[in-house]
Amino acid sequence: MLFHMPARLYFGSGEISNLKLIINEYLRAENPILVTDQGIVQSGLLKKVLPQLPGIKIFDEIEANPKSDTINKIAGKMRRLNPDLVIGFGGGSPIDAGKALALLGTNDGDIEAYEGKEKYKNNPLPFLAIPTTCGTGSEVTWVSVITDVNRKFKMSIKGPKMYPAVSIVDPDLIKTLPPSIIASTGLDALTHAVEAYLSKPATLITDTHAVKAVELISGAIKGAYDDIENHHTDREDMMFGSTIAGFAFGNSDVTAVHCISESIGALYDIPHGVANSIFLPHVLSYNLPECFEKMATLARQTGIDKVDDMKASKAFIQVIIDLSKHLGIPLFKDLKIEKDQFEMIARMSFENNSTPSNPRKLEQKDFLQILENAYK
Ligand SMILES: [Fe+2]
Repeated sequence: MLFHMPARLYFGSGEISNLKLIINEYLRAENPILVTDQGIVQSGLLKKVLPQLPGIKIFDEIEANPKSDTINKIAGKMRRLNPDLVIGFGGGSPIDAGKALALLGTNDGDIEAYEGKEKYKNNPLPFLAIPTTCGTGSEVTWVSVITDVNRKFKMSIKGPKMYPAVSIVDPDLIKTLPPSIIASTGLDALTHAVEAYLSKPATLITDTHAVKAVELISGAIKGAYDDIENHHTDREDMMFGSTIAGFAFGNSDVTAVHCISESIGALYDIPHGVANSIFLPHVLSYNLPECFEKMATLARQTGIDKVDDMKASKAFIQVIIDLSKHLGIPLFKDLKIEKDQFEMIARMSFENNSTPSNPRKLEQKDFLQILENAYK
């Protein structure tokens, strides 16, 4: 059994105020750059970091589902600055973009050349992750997911040197997060935990984190969605749950839900967490015959007390459907994806590297059936 999570993790409300100290005394960086997006700029959250980093160069043009051409363009400018640290500040997109830029800070060429595992020649620059949503998990994983714009495909760029050197997880940073983002990122984190637990490479260590994450996230997500500002414990539980769900899937894998959501995200720019929320119950229904005993363990973390495992698992799937509805997640139909595209989505999902990790064997036709079930 192997468990790997080398990032130094600072967790706690108010931790962001130690940013300067961490950079100066632990990372000993003198020329950092900061990668973020327009949502963060408009949210005012930069006020928490910029006074600590006067004069820092900011790249704030990262989009949702970050694109290879954006990364390559920023890399050209970034290399001229010769940074010694990359800071990713925001949701999963700026953090994944920051990891990719840290790699390009020490390796030539475009990001497309580094798709896959350990394709870098030189160790990436040190990377500091500061999540501002409760879902990515990217602050504790070794992977950066970047959309190749030419192939319309989400590439995974990963390797043991791509873990953040430091992650600062401060639940106060999600205090002003809009409810729709709490819903989509929180359900992404829940999906990470559920898939990590049910995936074939799961271990006792990943199971321990995944089960606790399901308990924390399912217990806190409604309170966080309804009033994040005044629900301090829910904020902490969401951030902690999201982080340990990252420990879990980063050391086991995701399953068919992410295979579909990554395909749809690359083709149609659908928010990642929304796509996961839509397909999670349908993939769980498909997987029921193979893993209903394990699924029942997760069900019991959400307060379902049925003794029969199959009944508990079915009730768990219904809880997820009801939760998505409560949190305003759209239906698959609402995404306006034409049905004649389903074949292509099924093919792309089938070809995803995580398909073999799904607990029940999947063929392309099974993905097609899941898409059709979700569309009904
Ligand atoms: Fe995800």
